[in-house]
Amino acid sequence: MTKISEPNGTFHHQDGSNITRLPDEFYTDFLSDIAKNRRPSPIRSLFPLEKTPGVISLLAGKPNSSTFPFTSLSFSVVSPTSSDEMTLTIDGAELQLGLQYSSTEGIEPLLDWLYGLQEVNHGRKRGEGWRISVGCGSQDLIYKAINAMVNPGDTVLVESPAYAGVIPMFASLHCNQIEVQTDAHGICSSSLCTTLEQWPAGKPKPKVLYTVPYGCNPTGMTATTDRRKEVLQLAREHNFIILEDDPYFYLYYGKAPRYPSYFQLELEEPEVGRVLRFDSLSKILSAGIRIGFTTGPDMLLKAIDQHTATVEPPGALADP
Ligand SMILES: Cc1ncc(COP(=O)(O)O)c(C=O)c1O
Repeated sequence: MTKISEPNGTFHHQDGSNITRLPDEFYTDFLSDIAKNRRPSPIRSLFPLEKTPGVISLLAGKPNSSTFPFTSLSFSVVSPTSSDEMTLTIDGAELQLGLQYSSTEGIEPLLDWLYGLQEVNHGRKRGEGWRISVGCGSQDLIYKAINAMVNPGDTVLVESPAYAGVIPMFASLHCNQIEVQTDAHGICSSSLCTTLEQWPAGKPKPKVLYTVPYGCNPTGMTATTDRRKEVLQLAREHNFIILEDDPYFYLYYGKAPRYPSYFQLELEEPEVGRVLRFDSLSKILSAGIRIGFTTGPDMLLKAIDQHTATVEPPGALADP
């Protein structure tokens, strides 16, 4: 399937479908003051120079990989669908890459694999205005996303009862958390609609909605496709971004097809770019390894990456 990107961010597919993404300028109003004032890491901005032929880089205090004591790592693993054990070995250049400082969004082979995963599971094509960044669990990335978008004192929409892990994040920014009801079909779009339609004139509307669409923690409820579509429509009408926290997406055991994610469903909207998705490997691989990744519009990911690059040592992705 070939595609051509137009200057306005429209992608044409051979099958006749078009996808238009929201322009970069759209996100200016969604970035917090702290995100707008954050400057790129001086170390990371110089990384491209390392590729200059003949340059011996002393940048970022990178140790010489040949001095690492690990020469090979082997893991014994079982597949969830069989009891057969197999051994995975990582060594050579691949191991050296993994042990070294890396680019902020994550090491390339892992990112390539994650892009493929998102394409398969959410029907989104790489290069169409969205990106992925890896973090120390999805919670790390949710915290950075909230910091990138919310100013102290802002009003935010949070489904209720909410995942206990995000309440302190909003509370530390002294946010006014507006509860959105949930029931057996997940988030109540009607409750959200009423809240937004009755919004006091002159009071800034919330910029974000936080929701856990699959097997919500703590309710266990999953939002139906209709509810998700209604929430997406409200996001367009009332101009907010959906923070789709989905660590339980892969823990679906039903026989019927899995409900599509917000990230997938927004393909049916006139424009894409209102969903920032969070995935976690904690529930399916290991919580100790603590790998999560966020997927969404380039401008929001850039703000999250700048946070990572300024507060954490480069490449520190797996801090349990
Ligand atoms: C809804 C929800 N979001 C995020 C997390 C944190 O996930 P991670 O381990 O990837 O940081 C959890 C963990 O229980 C959770 O239930």
